[in-house]
Amino acid sequence: MNTVSDINALRAQINQWRQQGQTIAFVPTMGNLHAGHIALVTEAHKHADKVVASIFVNPMQFGANEDIDNYPRTLADDQAKLAAENTDLLFTPTPEIIYPKGLENQTYVEVPDVSQGYCGESRPGHFRGVSTVVCKLFNLVQPDVACFGLKDYQQVQVIQTMVDDLSMPVKIVPVATKREASGLAMSSRNNYLTPEQKAIAPALNQTLNWLAAQLTEQAHQNLDDNTDYQQLVEQAKARINDSGMQADYIDICHARTLAPAINTDKELVILGAAFCGKARLIDNLQLTLD
Ligand code: PAF
Repeated sequence: MNTVSDINALRAQINQWRQQGQTIAFVPTMGNLHAGHIALVTEAHKHADKVVASIFVNPMQFGANEDIDNYPRTLADDQAKLAAENTDLLFTPTPEIIYPKGLENQTYVEVPDVSQGYCGESRPGHFRGVSTVVCKLFNLVQPDVACFGLKDYQQVQVIQTMVDDLSMPVKIVPVATKREASGLAMSSRNNYLTPEQKAIAPALNQTLNWLAAQLTEQAHQNLDDNTDYQQLVEQAKARINDSGMQADYIDICHARTLAPAINTDKELVILGAAFCGKARLIDNLQLTLD
């Protein structure tokens, strides 16, 4: 597997493949790869002739008090994992290559509505950074298909909306969340957990499952009072707080628009985030009410 940091080298390889009539699938990452990322590469191979991955810890999507300096950087390990998964090319630009004028003077992409609320509220500016860097990476790699993990459910909706609104010729393929045996969603930020914290962290996923069971039960009782959702949400937050974590948000949303769910919505997603020691964990659960 070839690794390039330079935009000209990336473009030369992409152009060569294009001239040969090869299709391209893209897996953008911030590195510190785990089984969830590898599942993206495996999926990418099903959709195109060549798979390009990128590793770029994007400064634009981190807030001032967030963990960009401590974010785990494990390039040699990541290269070995991507090579073992037959990745064709790895792009590893520096911040100076992606943002030569600095962050302040960079044109940006802001996706309205789905970027608001949930992680968008807890992390102001985060989704602007995500949509801007993904737009830029799409322009550089020019993929036919790009794979994103559903653990970052709101991110997938933000990127799909950007692609739709700006008529980008890229098919977005969402890939199911990989989990530890405990149910904990795999994440690079799990590295911040102590063994004790790792033992309580599955409470986030367990709480989402509990909430989904309550919603299914309520649907069977044909309740039509929307306030019941809020009561359930408060109970779910209390469960998380009782586990030893601190709930950031738990919300029941329309699966595509992410608007707060109303009782006639059938396709739902429960979004959740909780602080566990130094880590802020996110998870979600999609469900259909019949
Ligand atoms: O999900 C991530 O790892 C990042 O948000 C992404 C999509 C690579 C953009 O920096």
